[in-house]
Amino acid sequence: MKCGDDMGVLIGRCRDSEFQVVYEIINDAAQAYEGFIPSDRWKTPYMSREELRMELDEGVVFYGYRWDGELVGVMGIQDLGGVTLIRHAYVRKERQRRGVGGRLLSALREKTVHPILIGTWEDAVWAVRFYEKHGFKLVSSVEKDRLLRRYWNISERQVETSAVLADHKWFEVQKPKKSGGN
Ligand SMILES: CC(C)(COP(=O)(O)OP(=O)(O)OC[C@H]1O[C@@H](n2cnc3c(N)ncnc32)[C@H](O)[C@@H]1OP(=O)(O)O)[C@@H](O)C(=O)NCCC(=O)NCCS
Repeated sequence: MKCGDDMGVLIGRCRDSEFQVVYEIINDAAQAYEGFIPSDRWKTPYMSREELRMELDEGVVFYGYRWDGELVGVMGIQDLGGVTLIRHAYVRKERQRRGVGGRLLSALREKTVHPILIGTWEDAVWAVRFYEKHGFKLVSSVEKDRLLRRYWNISERQVETSAVLADHKWFEVQKPKKSGGN
């Protein structure tokens, strides 16, 4: 498949043999968080191999974006029944802001019919902007606490310091149903 610039690019499901490169991309891109997210939440590596393995075991499926044959960006999708989460969006530092994340997000959105929720650090303002550019909207503070506790397996401290964005489908199902009758 070719899209965007003249580079050959392909979006596909990451293979088990790509575990190490997925791990490297996450930890390369996550350096953006240092100095922005609360210091007690930052560590090196940002995500350990064990944590990545756990995410996979919990059903996160990673898709990757290849550029000149090399994996340069990854994004996970987790189907939780009536709701789909987009998890762990990371593009190698030197390939950021060239449309890779946007293409991955669009490809993943096509893989579900359910409302989509995305969690990110509240202080990662660039990430919030990225999702807003793609039509996602921040949910209220009360709602984000409820959603993070219900759908994510994270600490209370992370709940406190995170934001949740949702797509139009999610907001649509939240609207009170019009009562029939008189
Ligand atoms: C967030 C991320 C996945 C987006 O992927 P990407 O390929 O860089 O995004 P795209 O090129 O498709 O879109 C770029 C848009 O995202 C936003 N954005 C991304 N990185 C940004 C940065 N460092 N500063 C400001 N805005 C940024 C902007 O709105 C930008 O649009 P612009 O370039 O016209 O201003 C990627 O930048 C990344 O890995 N960042 C570090 C890790 C991270 O924050 N992950 C989010 C986890 S939920």
